[in-house]
Amino acid sequence: MIRVFPDVEALSRAAAALFARAAQHAVRRAGRFVVALSGGQTPRRTYEWLARPECREAVPWEAVHVFWGDERCVPFEDPRSNARIADEALLRHVPIPPHQIHPIRCEGDPEAAAVRYEAVLRGFFREASPRFDLILLGLGEDGHTASLFPFHSAVMERRRWVAAVPEADPPRVTLTFPVLNQARRVVFLVAGARKAEILRAVLEGPFDPLRWPAQGVRPGPGRILWLVDAEAAAGLFRIRQGSADERHYNQSEDPHGGTSR
Ligand code: 6PG
Repeated sequence: MIRVFPDVEALSRAAAALFARAAQHAVRRAGRFVVALSGGQTPRRTYEWLARPECREAVPWEAVHVFWGDERCVPFEDPRSNARIADEALLRHVPIPPHQIHPIRCEGDPEAAAVRYEAVLRGFFREASPRFDLILLGLGEDGHTASLFPFHSAVMERRRWVAAVPEADPPRVTLTFPVLNQARRVVFLVAGARKAEILRAVLEGPFDPLRWPAQGVRPGPGRILWLVDAEAAAGLFRIRQGSADERHYNQSEDPHGGTSR
């Protein structure tokens, strides 16, 4: 399912509301909400909306556990740090218990950091399947998501839950598809004209997840949602008219045979 919003502000408000609803539902069902945040700049406004009173008070923060989909191997103080971006925009403004925030610590060797974070995940999920209630993801202009880059070995990883990407600059650590595709819900946040071409390729081009890793996010029917703004959606061939501030494009009409990716 794809929802198109007039602009990134409307997209961000909707994403924050979706986060709050997902958190309430998960805590009612299981007593906790386990979420992996996305890096990059697009989700920043969503995090800021979540920190506003009307959203903040709707989230049961005492039962929320925050992880990350990926991280750059830089100090926390570095403006490129995904943990710092989320802390500045959201986490320092909400009453989440500090021990329930699990940043990927990676200031040196990305491989050692990947091993450590996998141990954190295995300890948290008690070796059962790493099933996040919600994973937020972005889309790079080359089709990457998290830090799963085109033609990189991490894209083909099917056993480890966390992989190192030492070739990136700065080096990175990323969750792998075995984790992303276990999620109860994956929500992509994509905004801006720069993303129009890659969004069309990912959603309407040939299926080639090695070339466009975002296509490899296939958690199962009904468990993936694309929240995009009008600029990013401009290249999409078919968008059905929806409500005033969003249009719905039902991916079951998807040329790839009707399954949700
Ligand atoms: C990261 C992200 C990455 C990001 C995309 C889009 O750490 O960079 O995990 O996958 O989501 O590159 O980034 P923007 O939102 O900044 O365009």
